Amino acid sequence: MQARKLATLEVPPIGMGTWKTFDVRSEAEIAIRKGIITACVAEGVSFLDSSPMYGESESVVGVTTEEKREQFQLATKVWCTGLSQGKAEIARSFERFRTDYIDVFQIHNLLDWELHLPTLERLQAEGRIGLIGITHYLTEAYPEMIRIMKSGRIGTIQIPYNVLERACEQEILSLAEELGIGVIVMKPLDVGRLVTGLKREPNLSPLRAHGIETWAQALLAWILADPRVSVVIPATSKPERIQENAAVGVLPALPKELRAYIEKEAQRCL
Ligand SMILES: NC(=O)c1ccc[n+]([C@@H]2O[C@H](COP(=O)([O-])OP(=O)(O)OC[C@H]3O[C@@H](n4cnc5c(N)ncnc54)[C@H](OP(=O)(O)O)[C@@H]3O)[C@@H](O)[C@H]2O)c1
Repeated sequence: MQARKLATLEVPPIGMGTWKTFDVRSEAEIAIRKGIITACVAEGVSFLDSSPMYGESESVVGVTTEEKREQFQLATKVWCTGLSQGKAEIARSFERFRTDYIDVFQIHNLLDWELHLPTLERLQAEGRIGLIGITHYLTEAYPEMIRIMKSGRIGTIQIPYNVLERACEQEILSLAEELGIGVIVMKPLDVGRLVTGLKREPNLSPLRAHGIETWAQALLAWILADPRVSVVIPATSKPERIQENAAVGVLPALPKELRAYIEKEAQRCL
């Protein structure tokens, strides 16, 4: 895949989220996640996002990437209130990921961000964290996100962006571009609903010549057509989806008319 810039970091355009999909405990389920990680290595899906909010996810990422740590960029979050609780949770993320270095450390849903930011800044100064970021899944949080972006203290934002959720297009993406802040896109398939909630079958024939074979690929290509996006992180519980999703990262730039076609098909079929 052709690398994009996430602030100072080079990342693949297609990464992977782990909410729900990596919250597993049994040996059989962990073996499937090993298969997903093997597929990620094969396809260059090297950017993985987690959070202590996602149950076992950090631990499962840790155990499945341990032997291949240098082939991944790991992102996680602090998700709690209180300074000492935050410090303890951040320390646990290093342990659960089985690593001394975390590439992107984000403040989940801006929870107690004023308290956690100095802790993350100290770890960054010590060379234990690459980039510091903030995330929120609600567009109501954008005014506060914008204020934090303008403070110059963060390097990444993580926001929802898909064919039906476009609020970030108004201000936040332009500001990120202007300030050199990297953009991680969550919920690209709206937690799968954009694929499973179809009323009609999308007609993919106009997209096939461009290399798009599935509706999920069309939706991911639609997001990556926005050059302000650094990395999109679809989650999956199925190893075979990694190749399908990663294939979008090697397509040529999506022409404007095909992007508009995908929007029209989404309106017709969802
Ligand atoms: N506040 C926050 O910071 C926040 C909030 C939400 C999400 N996130 C992050 O963003 C990541 C992505 O968002 P998300 O997990 O909510 O939703 P998503 O990536 O939009 O959707 C995930 C769902 O899409 C399905 N899927 C993936 N690839 C597919 C394909 N090629 N064809 C058909 N279905 C496919 C998966 O089902 P299968 O398992 O069947 O493949 C899964 O159920 C999360 O995992 C998390 O890391 C962060």
